[in-house]
Amino acid sequence: MKIAVVGAGYVGLVQAVGLADVGYEVVCIDIDTERVNLLKGRRAPIYEPGLEELLERYTGKSLQFTDEYSDIADADVIFVCVQTPATEDGACDISVVERALRDVGVVVREDALVVVKSSTPPGTLVDFERALGRPDVRIAVNPEFLREGTSLKDFFQPDRTVVGVKTHRDELELRELYHFLKAPFLAMNIPSAQLVKYASNTMLALRLSYINEIANISAVTGAHIKDVEQAIGMDPRIGSAFLRSGAGFGGSCFPKDVLALQRAGEKAGYRARLISPIIDINVEQPLRFVGELEKVMRLEAGVRVAVWGLAFNKGTDDVRQSPAIRIVQELIKRGVYVMAHDPKAEVGARKELGDSGWSFVARKEDALEGAEALLVLTEWPEYIEADYGSMRDVLVRPIIGDGKHALNHWALRRQGFTVIGIGL
Ligand code: UGA
Repeated sequence: MKIAVVGAGYVGLVQAVGLADVGYEVVCIDIDTERVNLLKGRRAPIYEPGLEELLERYTGKSLQFTDEYSDIADADVIFVCVQTPATEDGACDISVVERALRDVGVVVREDALVVVKSSTPPGTLVDFERALGRPDVRIAVNPEFLREGTSLKDFFQPDRTVVGVKTHRDELELRELYHFLKAPFLAMNIPSAQLVKYASNTMLALRLSYINEIANISAVTGAHIKDVEQAIGMDPRIGSAFLRSGAGFGGSCFPKDVLALQRAGEKAGYRARLISPIIDINVEQPLRFVGELEKVMRLEAGVRVAVWGLAFNKGTDDVRQSPAIRIVQELIKRGVYVMAHDPKAEVGARKELGDSGWSFVARKEDALEGAEALLVLTEWPEYIEADYGSMRDVLVRPIIGDGKHALNHWALRRQGFTVIGIGL
């Protein structure tokens, strides 16, 4: 079975190297020639643990990269993994998917199976069919549930595989393609599979905004959110996963998918009411974190603050919608000078933050020089496991802000630090 993957981004690259590792012949196409050349040289355009090793192993052998659609003409299955940005009003913009489908439609062989992996809302199948323009080619969807930072692990060990199909034959073909996965394989109609993706991300985002709401209530009532989280998470009906409060969630998916679900409902005639507060709470959360910091120190010109972590999550170089970036922007706005470190996100952070009001330091310890507080905003292991005791006298004042509520607050306080978070 010959496989093509359209789009060499986070999702497409993982799909391509993952399937090459299973033994398939894979061609990955991207219209960005620079990206393709980088990949042909076995270099990854993004950071994702394990990706470069697999590129090294398969590129030029069972895995080819190209910017020419004619190179995928003989593929049996074509996965479309291109970006779905948001339109101005927050709806899902499927124009890049449509463009990819149009290009695929020009070259693809009769009876091939085109599988849309990009996150797209229910109700878009007719648009896809129109764009593809090939009634002789089959179409299906297969949403991904990869988390940046653990994408390859998630590819090989998913919790479930979901496909949206029109016929039993398409289901069987995809079941066979994914024969190497142990997880339950769920086939359903196309709108259902599309909705699974949006509803899953929205549920996770809902939990996060919910626990952040409880943290905000803790902050004003004297409750300790970590005690509250632990106790409510022990109810097996609730569970403790994805129940860690903090300065808000980030990434390219949750904020976008949550709004897109709201808009998809509206477009089809239903106004959902539980969804928009998820975003409202999340937009405010980084500012609340800065507000907590302001209770213990002045945030004004002449003050220096150290920041560890700029990526939205550990294990990634991605800074899209990162609460850390929002916090640094807010500090710069108040005249505070920020010394920041991140093991992977320097390039993205420089793009987001410009070059005034802050500096990037290559060693995390160098951020502390002359700083009145240290803010830990991404839970990279090297930050969680750092020797904080030794920093107590390096910092001008022993203040530690924890934007992910992931540090050992009890131990820090015992070492004499003032620990800042929301409702900690
Ligand atoms: C998310 C979903 O988890 C994936 O299943 C989905 O495939 C992906 O979106 C997507 O739509 O493509 P991702 O955004 O990469 O994955 O990262 P997550 O691990 O979900 O983290 C999102 C944010 O929530 C991060 O900022 C993280 O720090 C935050 N978070 C997570 C918390 O604040 N508290 C928690 O308890 C867990």
